[in-house]
Amino acid sequence: MKLIIATVRPDKLNDVLEALYRAEVRGLTASRVMGHGGEVERVENYRGTTVKMGLQEKVRLEIGVSEPFVDVTVKAILGAARTGEVGDGKIFVLDVEQVHRIRTGERDEAAVTPTIPAGV
Ligand SMILES: Nc1ncnc2c1ncn2[C@@H]1O[C@H](COP(=O)(O)OP(=O)(O)OP(=O)(O)O)[C@@H](O)[C@H]1O
Ligand SMILES: [Mg+2]
Repeated sequence: MKLIIATVRPDKLNDVLEALYRAEVRGLTASRVMGHGGEVERVENYRGTTVKMGLQEKVRLEIGVSEPFVDVTVKAILGAARTGEVGDGKIFVLDVEQVHRIRTGERDEAAVTPTIPAGV
């Protein structure tokens, strides 16, 4: 299993959620976060010029998936979150050791459903 952590623009969230839904990805966590993506602002003041490392509002998605869903999930986010301007965001894919569904006690692949993406 993998944990896909994506940081996207808040105004792209609906498009991303729709793309994930169409890709049959179910189960995710979304949070409002502040992020820095390398863009710095030069600020003039009495000491000269300083650099302000600004923070922008972003949305962080955490999606736990079984292996067959890794690529479809990444593709759905790439396709829906992109504007082509700097600051579109990042996707991290992390290994996951265990997943447990609390209601049933199912674990690992059985706990991240569905297991087979449509069309595979
Ligand atoms: N290396 C990183 N580690 C953690 N979060 C990051 C990292 N890079 C970007 N982010 C998150 O993604 C958001 C958007 O980043 P951004 O799109 O600017 O990335 P980038 O790599 O600088 O790409 P671009 O060149 O398109 O700006 C940031 O505000 C931050 O929340
Ligand atoms: Mg950037």
